[in-house]
Amino acid sequence: MPRTLDPELRRALTARIRYYNEMGIYDFYHRPVSVNTQEVTAPIAVDEQEIAVSINPESGEQMSPRKSAAVAMPVALEGEENIFGVIAPKPEQSVSDPVKALKIIREDLGDCTRCVLHKQGRKQIVFGVGNPKAELMFIGEGPGADEDEKGEPFVGRAGQLLNNMIKAMGIEREQVYIANIVKCRPPGNRQPEREECATCSPFLMRQIAVVKPKVIVALGATAAKTLLAMNSSMIQLRGRFYDFRPAGIRSNDPDWDGCKLAVTYHPAFLLRDPRQKGEAWKDLQMVMKELGLKAAKQTT
Ligand code: URA
Repeated sequence: MPRTLDPELRRALTARIRYYNEMGIYDFYHRPVSVNTQEVTAPIAVDEQEIAVSINPESGEQMSPRKSAAVAMPVALEGEENIFGVIAPKPEQSVSDPVKALKIIREDLGDCTRCVLHKQGRKQIVFGVGNPKAELMFIGEGPGADEDEKGEPFVGRAGQLLNNMIKAMGIEREQVYIANIVKCRPPGNRQPEREECATCSPFLMRQIAVVKPKVIVALGATAAKTLLAMNSSMIQLRGRFYDFRPAGIRSNDPDWDGCKLAVTYHPAFLLRDPRQKGEAWKDLQMVMKELGLKAAKQTT
């Protein structure tokens, strides 16, 4: 028999869940507890109205007050269905217009102070840009100085090379969607820390679930490792497609249950080592084949 939650505990629990929501965390799971340990807590009936924003009432899932929230892993591993079965719908998922849905995510992000990057010299948040119904999405690491200045990803030198790569694929920049793992410029263009990636990427996952691309190209190791939750080298990661589903999102679209993901070199790396451009072109050709794209005719 479920016990009724003590009102004080319920208030504390509600405040805690709001706090996690503010941090961009919406997904909670119920860890199975062993009957033989002291950790055992009886299932507790939770007032659904108070916490409906966070826990899917349909799931019937109950949360122990001693258990904390967790961001789900990017891809469900075998035997983890329980965890992923209780993912709450995101607010934008009730909106069919992707422009409006992306706006909801942007508003949710607000003037973000969730990680240290907000106080390390960022001028503005660089949310993402492009076709909200793009078939192809490029994901980089994080904004540099030019992007921080303009509020748009990939507008500096690396951006010019990315534009050329997109053109070579026979399409225009406006046709694709471009975003980064972190939305604030890391000082001195340092690599974003793992914690910064983990804090920021749930918003990217939501953007991906709205755009519903057919293919994502992860530009460089930070993007690839964060999206795939793998710690392999670029050599190991490139040259194949991965099945990708955005972490923490339960798709409510029967026509979109994830997409393919390819890894290639970051344009900034290619500027430093142009000999690798041929390898990157091989990656893009694999993507073009998947999307039925024909290479642009060379003009000179
Ligand atoms: N490098 C990135 O990873 N992203 C940008 O937006 C610009 C440079």
